[in-house]
Amino acid sequence: MLRTIAISSVLLPGLVAAQVAGAQSGQTSPPSYPSPWMEGGNGWDDAYAKAQAFVSQLSLLEKVNLTTGVGWEGEQCVGNTGSIPRLNFRGFCMQDSPLGVRFADLVSAFPAGINTAATWSRTLFNARGNAMGSEHRGKGVDVQLGPVSGPLGRVPEGGRNWEGFSPDPVLTGIAMAETIKGIQGAGVIACAKHYILNEQEHFRDKSSTSEASSSNMDDTTMHETYLWPFADAVKAGVGSVMCSYNQINNSYGCQNSYTLNHILKNELDFQGFVMSDWAAQHAGVASALAGLDMTMPGDQGFDSNTSYWGGNLTASILNGTIPQWRLDDMAVRIMSAYFKVGRDSARIPVNFDSWTTNTTGYLHALDPTRDVQVVNQHVNVQDDHAKLIRQIGQRSTVLLKNTNGALPLHMPASVAVIGEDAHSNPGGPNNCSDRGCDIGTLAMGWGSGTVNFPYLVAPVDALRAQAATDNSRFANYSNNYDLKSAQMTAANASVAIVFVNSDSGEGYITVDGNAGDRNNLTLWGNGDALVAAVASSNKNTIVVMHTVGPVIVEAMKNNPNVSAILWAGLPGQESGNAITDILYGKANPAAKSVFTWGKDRADWGVDVLYTANGSPPQIDFTEGNFIDYRHFDQAGIAPSYEFGFGLSYTNFSYSNLQIQKQNAAAYVPTTGQTKAAPTFGTIDTSVADNSYPPGFDGVKFYIYPYLDSTTPVNNGTKTPVPPNSQSSSPQPKLPAGGAPGGNSGLYDVLYTVTAKITNTGKVDGIEVPQMYISLGGPNDPKIVLRGFDDLSIKAGQSATFKADIQRRDISNWDTVSQNWVISSYPKTVYVGSSSRNLQLKAVLNGNNYNGGYGGNGNNGGNYGNGGYGNNNNNNNYYNNNNNNNNGGWENHGGEGNNGGHDGNNGQSGDGGHW
Ligand code: NOJ
Repeated sequence: MLRTIAISSVLLPGLVAAQVAGAQSGQTSPPSYPSPWMEGGNGWDDAYAKAQAFVSQLSLLEKVNLTTGVGWEGEQCVGNTGSIPRLNFRGFCMQDSPLGVRFADLVSAFPAGINTAATWSRTLFNARGNAMGSEHRGKGVDVQLGPVSGPLGRVPEGGRNWEGFSPDPVLTGIAMAETIKGIQGAGVIACAKHYILNEQEHFRDKSSTSEASSSNMDDTTMHETYLWPFADAVKAGVGSVMCSYNQINNSYGCQNSYTLNHILKNELDFQGFVMSDWAAQHAGVASALAGLDMTMPGDQGFDSNTSYWGGNLTASILNGTIPQWRLDDMAVRIMSAYFKVGRDSARIPVNFDSWTTNTTGYLHALDPTRDVQVVNQHVNVQDDHAKLIRQIGQRSTVLLKNTNGALPLHMPASVAVIGEDAHSNPGGPNNCSDRGCDIGTLAMGWGSGTVNFPYLVAPVDALRAQAATDNSRFANYSNNYDLKSAQMTAANASVAIVFVNSDSGEGYITVDGNAGDRNNLTLWGNGDALVAAVASSNKNTIVVMHTVGPVIVEAMKNNPNVSAILWAGLPGQESGNAITDILYGKANPAAKSVFTWGKDRADWGVDVLYTANGSPPQIDFTEGNFIDYRHFDQAGIAPSYEFGFGLSYTNFSYSNLQIQKQNAAAYVPTTGQTKAAPTFGTIDTSVADNSYPPGFDGVKFYIYPYLDSTTPVNNGTKTPVPPNSQSSSPQPKLPAGGAPGGNSGLYDVLYTVTAKITNTGKVDGIEVPQMYISLGGPNDPKIVLRGFDDLSIKAGQSATFKADIQRRDISNWDTVSQNWVISSYPKTVYVGSSSRNLQLKAVLNGNNYNGGYGGNGNNGGNYGNGGYGNNNNNNNYYNNNNNNNNGGWENHGGEGNNGGHDGNNGQSGDGGHW
């Protein structure tokens, strides 16, 4: 059934709103072929030239080796490609995680993405990225598997939201860009993941009984919300993007030609390479033609010893199913990323091993017949990153409530610290594999987005040390279920500090019945009862929450005995020190919440799909752009604490909003064509030369690029491929494309906004002023975040807040012209201290934004007439009615490998057609 949703393209005033379908079950995804080939430009030229030179000398087998992982646990990293021994070029090492180096010792455990975002500090975003990048570099890693902007955080229960930054795409986009610049500035390739719409853990994976869930999405929301941070990542020059497990409009993320070819590589002009999430590839030819460049970990299922690529890719090239230019493009993209970040000079041997902590072990974990050697050299890469971690811990702690100056503490006579979350896991911080438990203080979630803690400062230890310095009497209690004892411990203390938490993680681990996604938004481990019990016995109860996202806090907010509430998130190894700094005023809280705190889980209007509603499960994003605060605003729901909210130990006033119009050039839709697809070097087509050498003694379970006797190079039946997918002819550029991140005009600065922020209190502090814009249309969110800064302001002094408004900031995605347009609806700029405390407001002058800089058709009356897509009736690119009859190409989930050409071991799902 066609569902009408209240989101839409930009509408011309006076026209009837077009029905925008899209987020509906059974939705299909249109084909887009051929896969765009890399062309360089915009900071990639040098790398592209070096990559061309490198790839031109490679044989077919060597090129295939660059694209195909050697299989799970085949080498020391979580992902490893084949090597090029002839050139003494080792394979690529891909390593988790978005918060440090996974599976290694002597590394740092950085604060999670969600904490990093809560600092609202570009400097800290970048510094953390750079520190993580340098740790990966020091371990020999080529690609750090982060940062994360998918999940974005559509549903607060989403298990991996904390790996990313915030459900706001602008904050996340800026955090992505700065993190990427930081990582790549350290000489390591960053990986923006998981592309795209990977918003929950339930059903994310294909299983033996069901295809993975489909995230069903409309074109407008795709651009205005979920794609936005990926566009920033591409603009920042990210070297790799990881395609996700889930389907998008019923086509798998790693073979969806629309999201990969059309949006990522054409519209966003992505020049790096796309790697699959681990075992997220489900077909050989289909994924190659749809834009996948590297398969990870290379085998079809972990340790299956079969691959969709490897020898099958070699066969597909030889039999012409995949043109040489496509393989060459894969290889050139991979090597361009390598050269772009300077891996040619930064690279050192991999000196750690993901599969053992022992110093010596098998080089290939699954093959005990060979190569026992030193696999862990225990290289200490921590540097002085603990300082940065502690600083981010301080800067990310959100002070939500502070009654009558309860905080900061000043030499209290006695302190009681209560709650398991204040204490260490008795088995040590790494006791549970991939942090898959919730025992002791919580400082990161669980799953692949983790590292081994070098140490973890428990809050109780740092607070006990502080109490000793102050001569405060100190008591602590850790059992969350013995409420009587907790109350007794709290009863006579000058202050009772209760630590509570809520955890989540990746779906391959279930903790306390939570299969990745949280089952609810209450505190874990009896936390709500613990807070209530302690508050009933101590009128100065302070609550510290280590949570992966929002929990329901309305009761403690309204409890008069709870004098302060802090969100400390997932602060990493320096947890206890950072929270002590805040509680005692050694650091003034400056963080602002990066998500909304609703009063009830229903307030968010969306939830995880916990029970399959069909096969494959259909997740309809019918709420469109209205997630988190955009939904609360639209529905008129008052939250406990709003997005952007956070207190300080001082106060700030806002005044003097000024808007300066800039002289930007007119927006010019991109036109023209690409060059024809290039090839690099010639390929030896001899079957014998590309087959396993006689007597070859391979590593067990290892994926090789060779043809083998069971791989028919050409069995006479030609597998049909999508129309145009093999074409090497010049291709049209997209109007919204033309440069990394999309049309460069989108990033022109149209206005500069300034405001005066004054610290009116008695202590120095940091304020995060936020700029929101109302785009004004009937289908637009009330306000959307568009800018922010973190300003250090001494007591009694003022600073100037400055934020640019770029063209994209006041544009909507127009599904008809397939471009960004500025509607003629009045636009309002707000500057304030949170999304609901907007002290300053000014209307952007319509003349300015219609005529002044747009020039060629930004004016509502004109925008469809510019000669690009003026009437293609294509209100929704994802609309079922507009699927270009692709029937079998995109949407058959679970196609077999490729119908006999290279599919002998690649059949999966229905297997009948590719
Ligand atoms: C699957 C996860 O989704 C991804 O984030 C991670 O990088 C890979 N596994 C490798 O561990």
